[in-house]
Amino acid sequence: MDIKIVEVGPRDGLQNVSQFIPLDKKISFIKGLQKSGLTHLEVGAFVSPKWVPQMRDSLEICKQFNQYDNILALVPNQRGMDQYLEAQLKNVAFFTAASDTFNLKNTNKTFKDSLKVYEPLIQQAILDKSKIRMYISTAFYCPFDGKVSTKKVLEVVEDLLAFEIDEFSFGDTVGLATSNEVTDLINGLKKLMDISKINMHFHDTYGMALSNAAKSIELGVRSFDTSASGLGGCPYAPGASGNLATEDLVYFCENQGIQTGIDLDLLIEASQDIDNFLNRESSSKVKQAIINKG
Ligand code: HMG
Ligand code: MG
Repeated sequence: MDIKIVEVGPRDGLQNVSQFIPLDKKISFIKGLQKSGLTHLEVGAFVSPKWVPQMRDSLEICKQFNQYDNILALVPNQRGMDQYLEAQLKNVAFFTAASDTFNLKNTNKTFKDSLKVYEPLIQQAILDKSKIRMYISTAFYCPFDGKVSTKKVLEVVEDLLAFEIDEFSFGDTVGLATSNEVTDLINGLKKLMDISKINMHFHDTYGMALSNAAKSIELGVRSFDTSASGLGGCPYAPGASGNLATEDLVYFCENQGIQTGIDLDLLIEASQDIDNFLNRESSSKVKQAIINKG
């Protein structure tokens, strides 16, 4: 494939839904996404159920998919790591943020404190031969403090480069970034790490996610997080909407001759099933257009 798409719908897409979605519905959603050709999927979060109740069945879900190589789950602390190891996945996703106000609201820890938590967990992941992803949220804007400078994000990255991290996912958590800011960050990151380690995670609150992904592709990035039907949002980022819709990125790429390996019709079938269940209208323009056309 020319591009890697990490489907985060089952985690980022569903974590903010207040109505509890039964386990079998989540599992059939994930299977439907796999059937469409998606291989990299983030399916759960071993976080506190007091903080994010929707993710409370992550252990059962992860156990069902641990025979696949590219299934991810979020881990915030030792308790989450123990569950991750029990689930026997091969890809762990730690998460922190460039803004400490967001870090405190999201995990009750500053960036520096999260490093202390992650240091031993990273060693455990290495021993387990897991691939390690690190999210850096608020890589452009913080929902509480506003603009986050590229300089600040690069400082955070420099601290994290002391650890053996395979991939960094840079989150436009609130979906406010535009092309020039994306260019600025990616050019700065390229001086610090190989481009193959950079993954972009755009939320689509202001409708900028696809143009930001297009700019990232132009700059050489080949890895993106998306969510089927544009589901989602972070419970600790008020006002933020869902991720870049997987359908929109797939349509864009395939029409540029960039192969994704994903069947758009099967993807729409999978996301329609969960949209129907949630009684929600898709925020993917591409999906809406294809459905309207019949
Ligand atoms: P805390 O309250 O400081 O932790 O939360 P604590 O150790 O005091 O624990 C509080 C309670 O939770 C205790 O239960 C613990 O046992 C339990 P009690 O004793 O009161 O009955 N607990 C756990 N239970 C299950 N699994 C665990 C766990 N840990 C503690 N792992 C903590 C600290 C990190 C746990 C909490 O803040 C938390 O879970 N935060 C997660 C928030 C979250 O999931 N946010 C969304 C994901 S991040 C995101 O969406 C952004 C991203 O998409 C990128 C982007 O868009 O930018 C990735
Ligand atoms: Mg997110």
